[in-house]
Amino acid sequence: MTDLAAPAPPIRLGVNVDHVATLRQARGTSYPDVAAAARLAMDSGAASITIHLREDRRHIQDHDVETLCAAPDMPINLEMALTDEMLEIACRLRPRDCCLVPESREELTTEGGLDIAGQQARVADGIQRLQAAGIAAALFIDPDVDQIHASAEAGAHHIELHTGAYADAADSTTRRAELARIVEAAELAESLGIEVHAGHGLHVDNVGEISAIAPIVELNIGHALIARAVFVGLGEAIVELSAAMAAGRRQIV
Ligand code: PXP
Repeated sequence: MTDLAAPAPPIRLGVNVDHVATLRQARGTSYPDVAAAARLAMDSGAASITIHLREDRRHIQDHDVETLCAAPDMPINLEMALTDEMLEIACRLRPRDCCLVPESREELTTEGGLDIAGQQARVADGIQRLQAAGIAAALFIDPDVDQIHASAEAGAHHIELHTGAYADAADSTTRRAELARIVEAAELAESLGIEVHAGHGLHVDNVGEISAIAPIVELNIGHALIARAVFVGLGEAIVELSAAMAAGRRQIV
């Protein structure tokens, strides 16, 4: 449980730049420049940059991972499937963090959390390979008690809770229930000594409620930020979102 006497730690924003690459890949151009977007995001207040190297290479390419992992002062969170190919790439390029996610070719975006409980030995082996290369290994999971326990047993450095069911809830009753699941999962993970991140489907109007959950210390946000950047620019979109996160954090008493 959260220590009510202690102030909540600040909450950080990880900016997912996949859709900068989506735009580039749509026309096969060399622009917009993903590394420049990452640098602008960092200069605008991001704490880290997330990229997802998908098996089908639909947005981020191998050369993006190479460039970003080699960039000075660029904390990279590489999302990837748990495959030998991806483990080899991560261990060679050494991003700061690596988040294991489920992946299927047909999906529009990552649809659910990784099932840790159903493949614990395989996940633990992947985590060990990443940690041996000096990478903080994370697991993207649904806010589910069994998955939290399994993640702890598998040795994850941190978890990222999937907020998609909350963000996509069709009515307020469902949204309340999904928020309660996230709170319970975050508190359990914290009590087990696992750092808690969250993400998926977050935007300026719903990020405050998630930011008000004290054990969550980092949010990973992409689609809504890049969409907003079309109108106000990436830097301003990050400033707006950071302000909404800070306002939510102030709700913690
Ligand atoms: N976290 C993970 C593991 C993801 O796969 C994604 C989507 O790429 C996000 C966070 C960000 O979600 P969104 O693009 O909806 O902000």
